Amino acid sequence: MQTIAANCNVAAASNFKEDLARLTAGYDPAQIFVLTDRGSFKHCARALDGIEAIRPRNIITIEQGDTAKNIETATQVWQFLSSHGATRKALLVNLGGGMPCDLGGFCASTFKRGISFINIPTTLLAQVDASIGGKTGINLDGLKNEIGTFRKADAVLIDSTFLTTLDKENLLSGYAEMLKHALIHDAKALDTLMAFDMEHPDFAALQQLVADSIAIKNHFVTNDPEEHNIRKALNFGHTFGHAFETAAMHHGRPMLHGRAVAYGMVCELYLSTRLCALDAAEAGRIARYIIDLYGPMSIRPNETDELIELMRHDKKNTSDAIVFTLLPETGRIEINRTAAAAEITEALDYLTNLSNSHKQ
Ligand SMILES: NC(=O)c1ccc[n+]([C@@H]2O[C@H](COP(=O)([O-])OP(=O)(O)OC[C@H]3O[C@@H](n4cnc5c(N)ncnc54)[C@H](O)[C@@H]3O)[C@@H](O)[C@H]2O)c1
Ligand SMILES: [Zn+2]
Repeated sequence: MQTIAANCNVAAASNFKEDLARLTAGYDPAQIFVLTDRGSFKHCARALDGIEAIRPRNIITIEQGDTAKNIETATQVWQFLSSHGATRKALLVNLGGGMPCDLGGFCASTFKRGISFINIPTTLLAQVDASIGGKTGINLDGLKNEIGTFRKADAVLIDSTFLTTLDKENLLSGYAEMLKHALIHDAKALDTLMAFDMEHPDFAALQQLVADSIAIKNHFVTNDPEEHNIRKALNFGHTFGHAFETAAMHHGRPMLHGRAVAYGMVCELYLSTRLCALDAAEAGRIARYIIDLYGPMSIRPNETDELIELMRHDKKNTSDAIVFTLLPETGRIEINRTAAAAEITEALDYLTNLSNSHKQ
């Protein structure tokens, strides 16, 4: 019940341990290193038991959480590799969520000017998004992914059984990116996701949905690896989403990335009806589904200006204009669309109204 996305080709495989043994077969075991964080180690390291090529002394365990995704932790990893005799022929296996995959990819892409790395993503967000597509990075002075490289993993090994220990909030976070992939590329896949029972997930069935979702991300990444044009499709929901995420953090009530993106998609569905003729009934159907799944979101009236200001400073904007990826219909995108403050305010009101009607 596993899937390998080796070199970004997604292919079904049969056994996690066999797949990993095959992927590591060409390496000297002394040169195989595993990077994981405490949480992933606790829940997932068992999967490495019995794999001869993996030596316990070569496992690097870092702190968990995004606050540890920084240069100090990266230095620890480089020092570990260096002091354990890693050469240019070393392999780094990143086991965990998007945090160790991003940081490990960054360390691997810079250690001795670049060593090989494999991602084994263990959160849903990392499986469908963070481990795929070649963006690596660390945060700097509170700025997310401020330092990083473009460097694709040599292979990505995906097994949805890891997800059985993940809490609901993290599952929902990853699911938002899956909904996004369907929205920007495949209306039928969207219907499948909307019919899937995320309250009581069937993890075997989820594995196929994950593979389909990865294929969509790969489509955009392969055609535009460095995000000059159509890769921007993947930013759907993210202009509002990043603002919600940042505002929530400033107000001391952090919100997981995917949840923020889910609410961002509701706002950007509305903008799509206003600015590129997305059918309002279709937008409403999807937006209501999102609010049903994620619950209502409350925006204080005085928060609107703060959110617009955050969007203006989003690092994806190159001018004063606030840029969006919008949907003329489900499965199709328009990139580089801009919206005025009044339209953004309307979109926030749309989210608030839907949330209020959900509460009643
Ligand atoms: N490179 C990209 O393209 C890209 C895309 C999206 C997100 N990201 C990055 O990904 C990171 C977020 O990823 P994330 O949501 O996976 O967070 P994460 O890696 O911090 O994992 C969330 C938590 O889940 C725990 N965990 C991991 N696997 C588990 C499992 N199977 N069971 C139980 N607990 C488990 C971890 O220990 C951690 O505490 C951010 O740093 C973000 O910037 C990168
Ligand atoms: Zn995202």
